[in-house]
Amino acid sequence: MNKDNTPEIFSVIAKNYDFLNHLLSFNLDRAWRRRLVSLSRFRPDSRILDVCTGTGDIAIEFARRGAHDVTGIDLSARMLARAQQKIEKLNLATKIKLKTGSALNLPYGDMTFDLVTIGFGLRNLPDYSRGISEMARVLKPSGRLLILEFSLPPDKLTYGLYSLYLKNYLPLAGRLFSGSARAYSYLASSIFSFLKPEEVISLMRQSGLRNLSCLNLTAGIVTLYSGQR
Ligand SMILES: C[S@@+](CC[C@H](N)C(=O)[O-])C[C@H]1O[C@@H](n2cnc3c(N)ncnc32)[C@H](O)[C@@H]1O
Repeated sequence: MNKDNTPEIFSVIAKNYDFLNHLLSFNLDRAWRRRLVSLSRFRPDSRILDVCTGTGDIAIEFARRGAHDVTGIDLSARMLARAQQKIEKLNLATKIKLKTGSALNLPYGDMTFDLVTIGFGLRNLPDYSRGISEMARVLKPSGRLLILEFSLPPDKLTYGLYSLYLKNYLPLAGRLFSGSARAYSYLASSIFSFLKPEEVISLMRQSGLRNLSCLNLTAGIVTLYSGQR
């Protein structure tokens, strides 16, 4: 599928996005985002940018834990509208700003943020290398980039079971609960075609990041990458 159309897919599923995330991941998605925030070593005054923020869960988790300068950026106005509703309901509007814009052309100067995060967004970009170098560009010296993204489990048996889940359960549940089988077939195929963890690390290195590491979560179906400018 042409990845230039992915923001349109997210606009279609924006209304049910959170519900389906929790349902399809058996609520593990909350734990993955919490892990990212816990490992980020942010300070209350850190300037934080959450790229591909979608309905804002990562930005919200930072603000709930005391961060007061968080920006979320996304191309889909509908996803951001859901994020804004949640932020207002939680009284976090003074801590989180939202902006419509592209991860491939971040509307910020070099060295603006202490911490940049992206959760389940990199896989959707038409140019991974450009996405990573844009995020590295807006980091201050010593600032950190954290990437949370799906990956394929290294263990053969787990890989087999997970493939069955992606190819069968995911599109079926997507069709039943979101009315968009296309969006959830896209999700499965985007997970299969995404980079291997060592390829993500290599792109991070090429963008000038150092102290690179990656951590398998839930048997390797998700990987948390970290790098420092
Ligand atoms: C799977 S969602 C992830 C949302 C959120 N980070 C989370 O953890 O649930 C991916 C998001 O990336 C956004 N997106 C896709 N391409 C983009 C781009 N080029 N620039 C900015 N956002 C983009 C989509 O609109 C969508 O909201």
